Amino acid sequence: MPSVLLTGASRGLGLEFARQYAADGWHVIGTCRDPAGATELQAICRQAAGRNDGKIEIHALDAGDFAAVAALAERLSGVALDVVIANAGIWGPRSMSAEQIDAPGWAETFRINTMAPLALAGAFRPHLERGTQRKALALSSALASIGGNSSGGLYAYRSSKAALNAAWRSFAVDHPQLIAAVLQPGWVRTDMGGPGAPLAPAQSIAGLRRVIAGLTPANSGGFYSHDGSTHEW
Ligand SMILES: NC(=O)c1ccc[n+]([C@@H]2O[C@H](COP(=O)([O-])OP(=O)(O)OC[C@H]3O[C@@H](n4cnc5c(N)ncnc54)[C@H](OP(=O)(O)O)[C@@H]3O)[C@@H](O)[C@H]2O)c1
Repeated sequence: MPSVLLTGASRGLGLEFARQYAADGWHVIGTCRDPAGATELQAICRQAAGRNDGKIEIHALDAGDFAAVAALAERLSGVALDVVIANAGIWGPRSMSAEQIDAPGWAETFRINTMAPLALAGAFRPHLERGTQRKALALSSALASIGGNSSGGLYAYRSSKAALNAAWRSFAVDHPQLIAAVLQPGWVRTDMGGPGAPLAPAQSIAGLRRVIAGLTPANSGGFYSHDGSTHEW
């Protein structure tokens, strides 16, 4: 049974990743800040157990608590992981401007969107090395693209995801035994994407799962969209 560990499994894209991987027979290790409040995740966990398809286990994890990330990696030492997905993310201060810098808000955005994914990848690298597929993914965004930025604004979010892309590329170069890539899910109807987004979580995640399944060592260090295309940096 292939295995996947992901952050932010409580709702949105993380919840959909958990649902689809479990339905496909995977062992899902879903992490979230408040497992007791993650009622949808608990429900698909029970359904997976009832249907005898993949299994889901849920662990409490604040992705921005790097000591907790290391402690969970230690608790799961010996476990082999095929795929690790740094999914948890935040908008940060959306209306920040050059004239009004929200330094703590911007720093927090970097902590969750840039540093936490790298901390996760570092902590679970040994588990991936024991796995078969050895894939480390992080959820980036089309808004991370510097070349594609023609609408401006969103300073904290854009810069934190662009920095994630840069950090993930270094991680890929430094760990050629793994396949490490950043993914953009499209604009999706989640709490973050809002109700007007064109893609349903099921569509986006079906696409991303196809992309992940098709990744080879030649793709390591890349930036890919949910439709399989290579994204502009
Ligand atoms: N939706 C889109 O259109 C879109 C587009 C491009 C990129 N993305 C990226 O895709 C990823 C998932 O987005 P989404 O749309 O599913 O967002 P969402 O609906 O806002 O859900 C965010 C998830 O991240 C979790 N999270 C936030 N901070 C956390 C922390 N410190 N520790 C652990 N979990 C934390 C949340 O957990 P709680 O329930 O505990 O708050 C929640 O599970 C993000 O990285 C986002 O930037 C989304």
